[in-house]
Amino acid sequence: MNVIEVQNLTKDYGHGRGIFDVSFSVAKGETLGFLGPNGAGKSTTMRHLMGFSKPQSGNAKINSMDCSKNYSRILENVGYLPGEVALPEGLNGTEFIKMMQGMRKNKNNDRVNYLLNTFKLDPSGSVKKMSIGEKRKLAVVTAFLDDPDILLLDEPTSGLDPVMQEIFIDFIRGEKKRGKTILLSSHIFSEVEAVCDRIAIIKDGKLVSTVNADDVKHGLKNIFTLTFSVKSSFEKFIKNDFTFDKIFFDVLKCNVLVNDEDTNKFINEVSKYQLTGMQEHSVSLEEYFMHFYENDKKFGGVK
Ligand SMILES: Nc1ncnc2c1ncn2[C@@H]1O[C@H](COP(=O)(O)OP(=O)(O)OP(=O)(O)O)[C@@H](O)[C@H]1O
Ligand SMILES: [Mg+2]
Repeated sequence: MNVIEVQNLTKDYGHGRGIFDVSFSVAKGETLGFLGPNGAGKSTTMRHLMGFSKPQSGNAKINSMDCSKNYSRILENVGYLPGEVALPEGLNGTEFIKMMQGMRKNKNNDRVNYLLNTFKLDPSGSVKKMSIGEKRKLAVVTAFLDDPDILLLDEPTSGLDPVMQEIFIDFIRGEKKRGKTILLSSHIFSEVEAVCDRIAIIKDGKLVSTVNADDVKHGLKNIFTLTFSVKSSFEKFIKNDFTFDKIFFDVLKCNVLVNDEDTNKFINEVSKYQLTGMQEHSVSLEEYFMHFYENDKKFGGVK
């Protein structure tokens, strides 16, 4: 059963910004990593799932309920960690936690103490004087107060030091084992590789790829390096509708990313050309992901 369902979600902010026709789902107990460069649309998608934003078309559903209509009911069972944490600065941490407990009618102080211990946070100081990392920890503690079944985590480890990042990832692994359904956005490859079952990659507001984490661990995609002997055939080849990772015009060489299912089509096409070299190797998620980070200009205008 899908707990999170996003279908053709579109919010056009103009000038090519926003999210366009985004569709994905997260099954019960599954952890989906949401990777994408700055401005790709991760937070916008999450805000729609929280019901903070209304889509122009398409929809976002949690437990089959439309997030733009039923948000107060949906939120009862969702822990949300926003990308940008904004906390009331006039309170101290303890007061803020009590306020959140009051709003959520939560009297489980054991849970609060467990979270404070796990994340090594002393909440007694004023929120205003807390460091970015401490504010982040406070937001983490309040997001997990109610032990919700669904976690929407928008770059949860940003602002945390490396030790605390590891503690957080261990905590998420524990939550996953307890059957939680998790959507986790991140820029950190090792983080998503460590906890996610599947990884969706978003770029320029569009979902460009979804991969299984297991495939990533066993070498994800093949990259072929081809060297041509004749300029005209090289120029003809790079007009093909393949994913060119790199094109070296001066030495008539190109790197092509090929999915397993496209291998036959690729080999068929390549066999029509005179090559002086062809090498193949697998790419890690990091290499694969960098491919989406890189500026399209580098692709020499070739798709
Ligand atoms: N309220 C808004 N009004 C206008 N444009 C917006 C608004 N919210 C987001 N955008 C634009 O939509 C795009 C996606 O933004 P979003 O915050 O979702 O990206 P992101 O993937 O979370 O990036 P980051 O990794 O930097 O957090 C950006 O180009 C951003 O400028
Ligand atoms: Mg963001």
